[in-house]
Amino acid sequence: MAVMGSWVFRLLVIGSAFSVFWSEVEVGYAEGEGNLVDVITWEDMKVDLRKQRQDLKDGYNTSRVIVVDQSGKGDSVTVQGAVDMVPMYNSDRVKIYILPGIYREKVFVPDSKPYISLIGVENQTLETIITWNDKASNTEKDGRELGTSRSASVAIESDFFCATGITIENSVVTVPGAHGNQAVALRITGNKAMFYRVRILGTQDTLLDDYGSHYFYQCYVQGSIDFIFGSSRSLYQECVLHSTAESYGAIAAHHRDTQEEDTGFSFVNCTIDGTGMVYLGRAWGDYSRVIYSYCVIHSVVTPSGWSDWNEPSRQKTAVFGEFQCRGKGADRKNRVAWSKSFSYEEARPFLDVTFISGEQWLRL
Ligand SMILES: *[C@@H]1O[C@H](CO)[C@@H](O)[C@H](O)[C@H]1NC(C)=O
Ligand SMILES: *[C@@H]1O[C@H](CO)[C@@H](O)[C@H](O)[C@H]1NC(C)=O
Ligand SMILES: *[C@@H]1O[C@H](CO)[C@@H](O)[C@H](O)[C@H]1NC(C)=O
Repeated sequence: MAVMGSWVFRLLVIGSAFSVFWSEVEVGYAEGEGNLVDVITWEDMKVDLRKQRQDLKDGYNTSRVIVVDQSGKGDSVTVQGAVDMVPMYNSDRVKIYILPGIYREKVFVPDSKPYISLIGVENQTLETIITWNDKASNTEKDGRELGTSRSASVAIESDFFCATGITIENSVVTVPGAHGNQAVALRITGNKAMFYRVRILGTQDTLLDDYGSHYFYQCYVQGSIDFIFGSSRSLYQECVLHSTAESYGAIAAHHRDTQEEDTGFSFVNCTIDGTGMVYLGRAWGDYSRVIYSYCVIHSVVTPSGWSDWNEPSRQKTAVFGEFQCRGKGADRKNRVAWSKSFSYEEARPFLDVTFISGEQWLRL
């Protein structure tokens, strides 16, 4: 997607006789700026409050930090209040710095607000919690059911989003088999997002990894049933996937309907632990694609490993692979015959950020 600034400008200049001159100027500016803004760097996940204070004293407000503090000493007492302060079609990174606290609220970042960072205080991830408790069967004022997608405690629809140092929770506890218990903690629908040291907690459908390319690095995801699901192309590296399943469940339900879709969930160097038993993945759509490489898999994974979601035809088309995993749950002796032990050549496209075209939008 193009830089928002230039997109807004193009809307403004439609029908204008001066548009040629001005749009050229704007595009030139946007491209130069685009190089800086259309990537995610470590800098985007850090806040330097001292520099911010100095800048403000010198009359600048360039570091664009909005402080969320429940004590009232910041710019907002809620996370949503801070998101609301970000201008529409924002074209520079804005950092929302969240001080420790339990924020009982739903947070929504619309697609008109790209380049937002949610940043918790370093090493205080456990104490900085955004939590809500909607589930799919809850009804709205008009009597309609909320549905899975809108149950999310935190929903991000904008591009170039990143988050670090926070916990995102849906506190609904799912009863297996109950109707409408899907309760999403985080939904990420925007393209090109990074999550670093973020904890995502729920039971059923915890993380809706909906659309776009995403990088989850050193994150913790907890749940029991399909707790990472959606249609994205995502790399999960050095993450902990923690099962809270009692009798059955599944980690990944990746949705892919055709061979042409360049999507999939790749788990590299992750640890899978918790209570059992869970499938590594369930085929949502004929071409569901999930790969685990270099993972430590504890005995919480069902020996057969993978489920065709009661659609035997999917056994021929789903792409479920394991490469160089270890631990009791990694034993492939009793795996379904149609899952694959990948060779290095087969695993290679999924092993690093090139899988998510990270060379184009990550500078880490
Ligand atoms: C600095 O910029 C942020 C984001 O644009 C804004 O919310 C904040 O109020 C500004 N602070 C000052 C002191 O102008
Ligand atoms: C956070 O934890 C790491 C590892 O334990 C440590 O190296 C770092 O100094 C800590 N940072 C702060 C701000 O305390
Ligand atoms: C796996 O992750 C650990 C830290 O969690 C790191 O030290 C190690 O280098 C990683 N190995 C690979 C193959 O990426």
